[in-house]
Amino acid sequence: MFAQRLARVSGSATLKAAAEAERLRRAGYNVVDFTAGEPDFPTPEHVKAAGKAAIDANFTRYTAAAGIPELREAICGRYKRQYEIDITPAEVLLTAGGKQALFNTALALFDPGDEVITHAPYWPTIPEQVKLVGALPVIVQTRSEEGFAVHAEAVIAAITPRTRAIIINSPCNPTGALVEEATLTPIVDAAAARGIWIVVDLCYEQLIYEPVPHNLPKVLFDRHRDRTVLAGSASKSYAMTGWRCGWTIAPKELTSAFNTIQGQTTSNIASMTQKAALAAVSGPQDAVAAMLAEYRTRRDALHGWLTAHPAIRCVKPKGAFYLFPDISALLSPDGLKTSADFAEALLEKAHVAVTAGEGFDAPGYLRISYATSMEQLREGATRILRFAESLQPARAGAAR
Ligand SMILES: Cc1ncc(COP(=O)(O)O)c(C=O)c1O
Repeated sequence: MFAQRLARVSGSATLKAAAEAERLRRAGYNVVDFTAGEPDFPTPEHVKAAGKAAIDANFTRYTAAAGIPELREAICGRYKRQYEIDITPAEVLLTAGGKQALFNTALALFDPGDEVITHAPYWPTIPEQVKLVGALPVIVQTRSEEGFAVHAEAVIAAITPRTRAIIINSPCNPTGALVEEATLTPIVDAAAARGIWIVVDLCYEQLIYEPVPHNLPKVLFDRHRDRTVLAGSASKSYAMTGWRCGWTIAPKELTSAFNTIQGQTTSNIASMTQKAALAAVSGPQDAVAAMLAEYRTRRDALHGWLTAHPAIRCVKPKGAFYLFPDISALLSPDGLKTSADFAEALLEKAHVAVTAGEGFDAPGYLRISYATSMEQLREGATRILRFAESLQPARAGAAR
């Protein structure tokens, strides 16, 4: 009934889990919701004020499809300060979130039959967008025993003559793992030798707890600038998910192709959002630091509570705001068989909503967002531990 391309894509597991939680909440249950993929903090005051001022000044019309020059300029300034790379506004285009930045990239670069390598566990939108344009996602698995580290050799081994691009997400949703400069460098060199594009999703770039060498933009600009796309976002850094602001940084010719695509589809992002994002990117950054500090406190607390259970193993995330525990020791052929079963039973019996690992190509895991209050985290952790105990106490105790 619909276009064939729709048969290739799946809906969001996170949104499905959140909708289930909402259903129970409406039925009167006290649900602890750990599905949120967005900051629970309000947008910083000076950013909101800039958006309101834009409306009051009637800055409410179309802008250039690529965005207002001052914001494109401010993004160049931010990348110069943060990564010491020189970009011109002609290489920057404003998008409706990082999601559209990545989708413009897929539309402009990937043809049917092209292969696009990425790493798992992944943010599902990455492979789904690849499929939506008819290309083929090629998945390189990472392992929790290795802190979900991406190995350059594994990525390079996945390259074939049909490889068009490699998409890297760091910090990674859902694992919180970082791809370090030393890992990216050989991947970039292999890509450069074969004319393969590298796309880096930097959505969580401001949310890094453990400083490691992570100047990925510089590695790419020094070695492979003419085939690099950086996808950025104001959503998580500045608690601006609803405003819809992201951007691409890409060679001029590709940016011009993005401009054509966007000009014929969505045009510019909301004019007032652009003014708010300008305040976010070029104004004081204290709110970013304060949110990061709070996320760190929550991460440490939740990680400590959950891993006190002998059957729950969890890598401590280095970035973003998700724990991704391995709960496979709590599964059994005669009980809850999969992490999807576990998540469903956890919601039905303990009223805690999490996203099952299956949605991230990681059965046996759960994604728990700690972008919620400490009280909710404590209550949710208590319920999860009680639920785990109720499953098979003897087995759980012997799991490690
Ligand atoms: C890894 C990753 N990239 C990109 C995005 C896009 O977010 P937005 O479109 O709000 O910028 C998200 C949102 O959840 C994400 O998790």
